[in-house]
Amino acid sequence: MDIFQKCLDFDRATRVREQGLYPYFIPLSGQVGPEMEIDGRKIIMLGSNNYLGLTNHPTVKQKAIMALEKYGTGCTGSRFLNGTLDLHVMLEEKLAEFLKSERVLTFSTGFQTNLGVISTLAHKGDTIFVDRSDHASIIDGTRLSHARVFKFRHNDTGHLRHLLEREREMGALLVVDGVFSMEGDLANLPEILPLAHEFRARVIVDDAHGVGVMGEHGRGTAEHFGVEDQVDILVGTFSKSFASIGGFASGPAKVMDYIQHASRPLIFSASMPPPAVATVLAALEVIQEEPERLANVHRAADRAREGLRQLGYDIGDSCAAPIIPVIIGDDMLTFLTWKRLFEEGVFTNAVISPAVAPDRAMLRTSYMSTHTEECIDRALAAFEKVGSELDLI
Ligand SMILES: Cc1ncc(COP(=O)(O)O)c(C=O)c1O
Repeated sequence: MDIFQKCLDFDRATRVREQGLYPYFIPLSGQVGPEMEIDGRKIIMLGSNNYLGLTNHPTVKQKAIMALEKYGTGCTGSRFLNGTLDLHVMLEEKLAEFLKSERVLTFSTGFQTNLGVISTLAHKGDTIFVDRSDHASIIDGTRLSHARVFKFRHNDTGHLRHLLEREREMGALLVVDGVFSMEGDLANLPEILPLAHEFRARVIVDDAHGVGVMGEHGRGTAEHFGVEDQVDILVGTFSKSFASIGGFASGPAKVMDYIQHASRPLIFSASMPPPAVATVLAALEVIQEEPERLANVHRAADRAREGLRQLGYDIGDSCAAPIIPVIIGDDMLTFLTWKRLFEEGVFTNAVISPAVAPDRAMLRTSYMSTHTEECIDRALAAFEKVGSELDLI
């Protein structure tokens, strides 16, 4: 059969487009802020991971411009051979200081970080345990490792224990998201970590959505729970709170040194471009110098969470992170709700299977420190109007 046959047969997107409900690849015009222009209209943005609003911070932008002038537009090579700038090294040192870790290693994206770290640490014959709701990059990292993979039910430590006991596995790798990217709930680290240690498993926490916004200082979900010293490796991204692109792994120096010399996604892919590195360095300074941003993002999310709950929406287990799901269930109804909210001036993210379970199609909403109370209230008014109209609440 022609390898292209699956493409010719693919009509899922076309069917949704034909009904005028297609919510993906929407071109945004201008800077990603709490309100922005889409299709010539002003829209409240509840669909961005710009949690701390730093993509528009004057100092952050200035530092990116200065790096562009000094170093040019790109590195044209991998960290390994010819793509390491003094800026990369400085970022790794400053981030290690911030995270209180021995060593940080940067990658070109968060996705590549998971591919690179997991597939370098685990090989054929090893065992990996993952939460069923872990991010796609973790799952793909486990596939690339050729290790045996066991998925435990989402945040279900009883099921994890059952699998660990059944496999009588000592010395495995356990990987979880810190903040789950779609539903915004937190990994139950206070229960997962002791369990991992009982079975001598090493733990990676991917805190792409936690670093910058969770914990008193923004060091992430482990800081939030007071268990930082029990996590072996922290993985993160620069594409959310850090307002740029890139990823990092943080952990023991010997482990990072090994990954640095063995990880194919690190060695065979070009490094983060200079303006991106400078952006992250500047964002790191702002995170430490303007702690009110962290407080403000939670203030905005708490107001939205309370409002959506009071309206009667199902917001899952969202409790502390600035991601709030509005669970609708059915795909087409989710697209319709997305469209009506868009028409009412609110941008959300429509999420369907396989990103979430098939019966849990949802609108993912996320918040920024720059969302005002008035802005959140206007968004809630739109949710109320659309929810009543479509019989959702
Ligand atoms: C939990 C998690 N890990 C990794 C990534 C990948 O990060 P990046 O977009 O920087 O490649 C994401 C991005 O959505 C994520 O949510």
